Amino acid sequence: MHEARKTVTVLFADVVASTQLGERLDPEALRQVMSRYFAEMAGVVERHGGTVEKFIGDEVMAVFGVPVVREDDALRAVRAAAAMRVRMRTLNADLDERWGARLEIRIGVNTGEVVAGDPSTGHGFITGDAVNVAKRIEQAAAPGEILIGETTSRIVRHAAVLTPRGLSIKGKREGITAQRVEEIDLTSEAVPRRLDAPMVGRAAELGTLLDAYTRAVETRKPGLVTVLGLPGIGKSRLARELLDGVRSEARVLVGRCLPYGEGISFWPVREILPHETFEGTREEIFWRVRKQLEALAAERPLVVCFEDVHWGEPTFLDLVQYLTGWIPEGPVLLLCLARPELLENRPDWPRNEPGATALTLDPLSYEEAAQLLELLDAPDAARERIAVAAEGNPLFVEQMTAMTADEGAEVVVPPSIQAVLAARLDGLERDDRIVLQCAAVVGRDFSLRAALDLVPPELRPGATTILLGLMRKELIRPHALGHEDGFRFRHALIRDAAYDGMAKSLRAELHERHANWLGAARREEVLMGYHLEQAALLKREIGAQNDEAQVLALRASEALHRVGRRAHARGDAPAAASLLDRSVSLLSNTDPQRPALLVELADAQMRLGQFANAAQSLDEATELARVNDDRRIEIRAAIGRRFLHVFTPADASGPELPGEEIISELERLDDNFGLARAWRVLSEADAGACRWEARADALERALSYAAQFPAQRHEASVIATLLVQALHFGPTPATQAARRCRDLLEDADGDLPLQAGIKATLSAVLATQGAFDEARTTYAESAALHDDLGLRVRRAVGTIFAAEIELLGDDPAAAERELLEGYRTLEAMGDTGVRAVIASYLADALWLQGRVEEAASYAAISAEIGDPTDIAAQVLERTTRARLLASAGEARVAETVAIKAIELAEPTDFLALQAAAALALADVLVADGRGEESRTHVERARDLYEVKQNVIAAERLATRMATPVSKA
Ligand SMILES: Nc1ncnc2c1ncn2[C@@H]1O[C@H](COP(=O)(O)OP(=O)(O)OP(=O)(O)O)[C@@H](O)[C@H]1O
Ligand SMILES: [Mg+2]
Repeated sequence: MHEARKTVTVLFADVVASTQLGERLDPEALRQVMSRYFAEMAGVVERHGGTVEKFIGDEVMAVFGVPVVREDDALRAVRAAAAMRVRMRTLNADLDERWGARLEIRIGVNTGEVVAGDPSTGHGFITGDAVNVAKRIEQAAAPGEILIGETTSRIVRHAAVLTPRGLSIKGKREGITAQRVEEIDLTSEAVPRRLDAPMVGRAAELGTLLDAYTRAVETRKPGLVTVLGLPGIGKSRLARELLDGVRSEARVLVGRCLPYGEGISFWPVREILPHETFEGTREEIFWRVRKQLEALAAERPLVVCFEDVHWGEPTFLDLVQYLTGWIPEGPVLLLCLARPELLENRPDWPRNEPGATALTLDPLSYEEAAQLLELLDAPDAARERIAVAAEGNPLFVEQMTAMTADEGAEVVVPPSIQAVLAARLDGLERDDRIVLQCAAVVGRDFSLRAALDLVPPELRPGATTILLGLMRKELIRPHALGHEDGFRFRHALIRDAAYDGMAKSLRAELHERHANWLGAARREEVLMGYHLEQAALLKREIGAQNDEAQVLALRASEALHRVGRRAHARGDAPAAASLLDRSVSLLSNTDPQRPALLVELADAQMRLGQFANAAQSLDEATELARVNDDRRIEIRAAIGRRFLHVFTPADASGPELPGEEIISELERLDDNFGLARAWRVLSEADAGACRWEARADALERALSYAAQFPAQRHEASVIATLLVQALHFGPTPATQAARRCRDLLEDADGDLPLQAGIKATLSAVLATQGAFDEARTTYAESAALHDDLGLRVRRAVGTIFAAEIELLGDDPAAAERELLEGYRTLEAMGDTGVRAVIASYLADALWLQGRVEEAASYAAISAEIGDPTDIAAQVLERTTRARLLASAGEARVAETVAIKAIELAEPTDFLALQAAAALALADVLVADGRGEESRTHVERARDLYEVKQNVIAAERLATRMATPVSKA
């Protein structure tokens, strides 16, 4: 049997300066004094539900949470500390009288996770840093002082008066902070509630309770309603609403069952009938209680509410059942609130009969939780996460909100909630707990077969029955998984609590076993990878560095690598990046697989727009490849670098390998995949120079290499996407480009990223043919696909095509909207290359709307961030600048700039770019009153568009040529 991990509260109490006492007293007297002291202290600890773990010298070490965890362990410990101090006073009075001696104690309390041995083996002792810290805190306390650690303070602060106390504790990396306990409240609940705030939802449930009340009043027949539900679900809050509603006409009495104490069988009844003595036999007491309630009900309707009935002693529960059956008549409603464990201990609890019903509270809906967060004024940024994590449990919502407000941190599970859940699980039978823990390893949802496989053989025959029992205990519920029987933990936190209760070595073992089971059953490899990964990480955490652990890590890494690759091939870049990243993390720094994996990871990161991460991955890959003298990987990393350079030219780092060298070296190495990538990235130079025909040729070559690797289809897919762009920008006539687009689209069956990429380009081509409706639909399809796939860079690049459509359609405002979206995405990602081009398109769209200043500012941005080797950016930026200068009356300079644009565009085969430059010059000339001169440039632009078969642009220019020139 493995040990358990649990969160406990440890208490140390030590006698201050007992050595002096030893000098004064005879050894026999001293022995008597000390045993008296130990007996008293042990008594206090036990009365509060703690266990004395050991006496060390004069020191007492007590633990709250073994053998079972309770939700209020921390509170109990602090209360015990306070009680010990009180006890010392009486003890001292006595000692003083008899021996002339006094003892002073100091106490330290701390809460934290420990490993506890299996008590059935006789090794119940606990180990963990929490113990050492408790001891340190105790040592730092002054005589008579109670100091408590940070987690303890957080859990009990609603019930205590605390003052911070600086500590200097040696030997701890981070300083320990402690609080001094000034006062501790003896009645507060383990987790604070606020029942006075407005109630959200629960209209139907309140209606049911009101009906029960009305029926009792109208028929004068006593009724019992039991409200059942998980801790914090809102039983008390709902009851409060009912009680407040009827208080004006009914007498309302409330009694509460306590989680512990002495002789408390009738405690809740004592609260409602303060004058009752509870003397005599059980029958006499029952009878008297009944008579008193009947007398009260004779005056006016009576509602008796018992809280936390699951903690009720058997005798008390008998009493409630007796009352239900034996009050002959009267307007009496007994309302019992209980957690589901009530029914475990009392399967026959009356709930399905005329006078006795039960009501189970379900979690709040998501909308109701959101409403509650609003009422609680939760920090906006955290609301969504809290609503999701709390899963409709209002107490969890409240606690998580409080915790976020305090710490401003991530939404974490408050220790108080952890304690509530851990207590529930620790209270289960051993076999129940083991089965639940095995299921927790599988996950929140688990199939019956998967859970059975993990259960120890001796429990297997009874495991199905146990699972059904756990279902009745409201810990899990049925949840079909495909065609299989399965279950789901009622709350993610219940699953976590079960999982956290296991030793890490056991978790590792079970994860590995489950992975093997998944592998044998040919289940999804991504799940198998996950479980292997968890096993490997857990082993790493507990410091297991043997061969077995390494083989496991390797298996995990390989599995994640395989699924990561498949995700990449599917175009699921976010999944690919995360899986590959996890795969790399499992490998040691010297693992030979590491550099190749890093190159793949960088590729996925680039697609996601995580340029800085990609650069880091490539740096590491290059370094390792050099150490290993692995030329192949080094070249791949260099190719990756070049890709990165396309997006972030400013980040050009290190000397680049010349293109021919790369190609010939890859040919020598027979690395066809490398060749596909190399041809593609080398053609980036052509793209920059706007030599589109050359670019298209290189990409055709790249495509033919990439097609040999169907397993890495994403490579071919990306190349094809770029290829159609080259065809669109280059001299290929539009009808021909459209045809190629459609052909490739037909082959792209099932390849969503490729479909998205082609559609983006095709939409712009269609617009040049005047098919605006089809163009816009096609573009919208592309954008939606890119969004779906999380391909943010491509989505942003696509806005250029949207802008082309809108500009051709004479709607510069719409073009502006699209471009701005792309611009902002790229800006947030740190891209500069594509953003420079988008900035000049934006400048153009703004200029066309007469928004001169804004146009000027984007032109300036484009000039600033544009790569000098990116001709399109250079030309476009100048076309806007020339027009701006002309409108400012700077005709001479404007003309020079426009001519420069024409010169720059000249050596390219980017027909639309050349046309744009020619038109810019034409506009500059018109502004300068040289309309006649402008005509040749307009004509040239029209000719270019005709060659390109851009029907719309060519027609528009033909119209312009037919109208007399006037100064704009
Ligand atoms: N419907 C609701 N609207 C607003 N707040 C709610 C609602 N239900 C519960 N709460 C709040 O959530 C917290 C927990 O609720 P409550 O104390 O009623 O839970 P419980 O079911 O009685 O739990 P336990 O089993 O621990 O007694 C309380 O502070 C309560 O005010
Ligand atoms: Mg309650």
